[in-house]
Amino acid sequence: MKGKVDTATAFAPASIGNVAVGFDMLGLAIAGVGDRVIATRVAGTSLSIAEVRGLDGEIHPYLSADPEQNTASIAAQALWDARGDGTGLELKVLKGVPLQSGMGSSAASAVAAVVAVNALLDSPLSTLQLLPYALEGEKFASAAQHADNVAPSLLGGLVFCPESLYPSMIPVSPVAGVSSVLLHPEMQINTASSRKKLARGYSIDQWLKQQGLLGGFLLACERGDVELIRRTLIDLLIEPQRSSSVPCFTGVKEAAMMANALGCSLSGSGPSIFALCASQEAAKVATAMEQACRRFGYECQSWISPMNAPGARVESTK
Ligand code: HSE
Repeated sequence: MKGKVDTATAFAPASIGNVAVGFDMLGLAIAGVGDRVIATRVAGTSLSIAEVRGLDGEIHPYLSADPEQNTASIAAQALWDARGDGTGLELKVLKGVPLQSGMGSSAASAVAAVVAVNALLDSPLSTLQLLPYALEGEKFASAAQHADNVAPSLLGGLVFCPESLYPSMIPVSPVAGVSSVLLHPEMQINTASSRKKLARGYSIDQWLKQQGLLGGFLLACERGDVELIRRTLIDLLIEPQRSSSVPCFTGVKEAAMMANALGCSLSGSGPSIFALCASQEAAKVATAMEQACRRFGYECQSWISPMNAPGARVESTK
């Protein structure tokens, strides 16, 4: 018989929300950057956060260890309340994703937490079943339950996850030979306040055009049609409302497109900016985007990922 698991460590990747065409319903996982959560059974009945550390190993200067204020503990609590055995839990959060970066930082913590806590359950849930619990954390951070960061962080790759189809999360085929470049300029944008500023009403013309681009982009991915990606990776609705809050955006986008990117837009609510491009041109696109960003006076970092970057995983249990 399987013994009880007392401690589990899980990693969950950062992600690109919206992917230009699918506001709140399309997301892409990123390789090489994410959050790690260690969940341990402890005496008592409550859930606590022992510490939140950054990549430098130091206690995180901004993130709260109050379990009611951290997306990791909020998501973990939701899962433990529903499926746990009532014992106490202690979390350690190792934060690899920059805060308020548009890289799905709150989702990565929530997903790493539910994946770690799931490994402590006598009968762990499937990855798909973890979605509602991870979304509880996301709801706290952005005051809305969009899954465009949680779903790719859980599953990896490109995922279509409109609220109308919850709890389904639909993986979209990765396109061979296409990579993402994600650039993070060193500034912060609060997703909840960015969302409050968005227009509530859109015309039928706008809706038709964006729906055509979303449908065309999804078909392009399924067919591996790179030229159709180039024609459809365009955000007509949200990017024009948000781009002015990222002063380097226009310059970075121009640089990416000059370097032959297939398309370029904000990642989530920004400030991060992503491009899709031919994999063999990804290093050139990343360099062009970084140089443009620095010309605007922002230090930055970039990551290149295949379209099938892995999702969350349990790294160890004992
Ligand atoms: N879809 C969300 C938004 C993602 O654009 O507000 C936030 O990262």
